[in-house]
Amino acid sequence: MPDGLVRSASLSIDGPVILVHGGAWDIPNTATEDHRDGLKTAVAAGRRSLESGESAVDVAADVVAAMESHGAFDAGRGAMLNQDGRAQLDAGIMDGSSLDYGSVMAVERLADPIRVARRLMDAGEGQVRILAGEGAERFAVAEGFTLIDNDELISERERERFEALRGQVDDVHTSQSFLPGVTNRRSGGGHDTVGCVVRDENGHVAAATSTGGTPFKPAGRVGDSPLPGSGFYADGEAAVSCTGWGEAIAAVVLAHDVVRRILDHGDLESAVTSRLRAMHDRIRNPHGEGARGGLIALSESAVGWAYTTPRMARAIWAPGPGTVHLQLS
Ligand code: GLY
Repeated sequence: MPDGLVRSASLSIDGPVILVHGGAWDIPNTATEDHRDGLKTAVAAGRRSLESGESAVDVAADVVAAMESHGAFDAGRGAMLNQDGRAQLDAGIMDGSSLDYGSVMAVERLADPIRVARRLMDAGEGQVRILAGEGAERFAVAEGFTLIDNDELISERERERFEALRGQVDDVHTSQSFLPGVTNRRSGGGHDTVGCVVRDENGHVAAATSTGGTPFKPAGRVGDSPLPGSGFYADGEAAVSCTGWGEAIAAVVLAHDVVRRILDHGDLESAVTSRLRAMHDRIRNPHGEGARGGLIALSESAVGWAYTTPRMARAIWAPGPGTVHLQLS
């Protein structure tokens, strides 16, 4: 991989902090305003809950729920459509203090899948932590959530993208041979996933990730985002949320790999850079190109990010003036 292809940065912040991402891909200039607005909305939601004393995990759920509702991102409303023309969503969340987590995957009738994943964390010790499809939706109803029609998740933008992709495929049921990596390439580098990592005033950390997955994915396809260790992970003072090609991220269990590296070696920026580079060098898409993606991370005293895509949407907020950073390049 050429030197410099991993772009990364880190900042020393040892108090409460929120770090958000809205996907790593080649975000077109026409989408940057929407992405900025979505990041601002997410930071504002997180800031409100952090300032009102919520725990890291509840702040993380609030941030990601705001992005699921916003419409700019491949998560919740505005998610990419699968080969059946339906939005099929995945989300997961984890508390670094307790290692409790909750995930839902392949759900089609939840407006805020991250909130249902968060509710699963409260199911009690030894209880189910991951639910898929209709089972997850039944759990949601039992917990007082309202099911919505799948159409409510579908935006005009994603309907058009679906029609364009369908036009490129002779047989929409080529399913498994129409791999997400190939689809990403054809659609110009993908469109991906939201997430956040949070440290609260007690030093507790959490990670959360939510996605509609890859464009034109086969029905039932699940990537890294709802898999603890792959799309998100938090342990002790370290937390990570990932974005990018889900099959590759799951193959190297990227979020756990980075958290472990931070906990064992301490240097956040070297951890995020080296593990993304290792994924790129180890996993190839069907065109022989190295796997790409991005991630955000927290250690005991720093925050940072790294990506190998043209752009990654991200924002940081910490208490005090002048501490909001919004970046898309
Ligand atoms: N990273 C999201 C996905 O591949 O589903």
